[in-house]
Amino acid sequence: MAFLIVASTRATLFAAEARAQNPGLDLRIAPELGRLADIDYALVWNPPHGVLRTLPNLKLIVSVGAGVDGILNDPELPDVPIVRYVDPDLTRRMVEYVVLHVLYHHRRMSEFRELQAQRRWEYLPEPAAHEVRVGIMGLGVLGSAASTILGALGYHVRGWSRARKSLEGVACFGGAAELEAFLAATDILVVLLPLTPETRGIIDRRLLRGLARQGRAALLPGPVLINAGRGGLQVDADIVAALGAAELYAASLDVFETEPLPQASPLWSHPRVVITPHNAAESVPAAIVRYAFEQVRRHRLGEPLANLIDRRKGY
Ligand code: NDP
Ligand code: OXD
Repeated sequence: MAFLIVASTRATLFAAEARAQNPGLDLRIAPELGRLADIDYALVWNPPHGVLRTLPNLKLIVSVGAGVDGILNDPELPDVPIVRYVDPDLTRRMVEYVVLHVLYHHRRMSEFRELQAQRRWEYLPEPAAHEVRVGIMGLGVLGSAASTILGALGYHVRGWSRARKSLEGVACFGGAAELEAFLAATDILVVLLPLTPETRGIIDRRLLRGLARQGRAALLPGPVLINAGRGGLQVDADIVAALGAAELYAASLDVFETEPLPQASPLWSHPRVVITPHNAAESVPAAIVRYAFEQVRRHRLGEPLANLIDRRKGY
């Protein structure tokens, strides 16, 4: 059995972990594949198109990421099962990111930072948490975990998914037909959707215009966008335009149409935009490799695999 790692930027970290956890393993690190027929299992992040197709005995693909858009977009992807990374530590990190940024905008921190820069001691009105409606697009592993903690902080939580869910304390909406109603009473929009043909570009000017125009207590100056899903979900230029037209008050963006975010992007210097380098929920190499080996073990013993991707749905 040979185990392949295809993950350009962190491949050596994964390889070191794989050797530490399984010293006798026949390990291959792309682009040095060796004899292709030996490779049974692959741990991958954004593999170059066509590479996986060259492996005649490939049995299982394990995704380094929770999102698999960078695998499914390979037009020559072989027909083998794909499992994505789901891990409690990753989930906690994402919940931290969401809570941090919801609080940051709800408590008007970007304006306080500006006032501080001018040495001005001024109060700004702030609604109570229960007056702020946080709407989460994507109520999967990450969105539903975030909804629980936001609810515990007192926010009014709403959620939108493909099929309407039933989550305690969350006003749930499902499918395209209920999107407008979901948006219409959302003050802070959190995006935790996967990138699929259906969701690409969904965060555009039209959608942003559908958000609640005023916070419940009319204290927040306008709606807020927090996107930690994928950059392809949003139209960067529409976000810039919406901020300029006061259709959006503020944004926290961890992901962008082009990453790294180009130097010329006006998002870099907008005073009410917080930018992070796609690190909302960074995964730990040791845990990813342990997870991959567990999936390989299950596959070899014929046990059910966890977190299998449904290719028809695209996530
Ligand atoms: P899940 O697959 O568990 O959840 C996806 C959710 O999105 C589900 O609720 C699903 O609905 C919903 N959804 C999918 N398509 C549609 C659609 N067309 N319309 C409405 N709802 C839809 O994913 P996770 O929660 O684990 O992760 C979400 C995404 O977060 C990942 O795909 C990845 O892109 C991103 N991510 C980003 C990270 C970062 O560091 N920035 C780190 C980790 C993940 P339903 O429940 O009905 O199926
Ligand atoms: C992921 C990511 O999908 O880090 O896990 O973006």
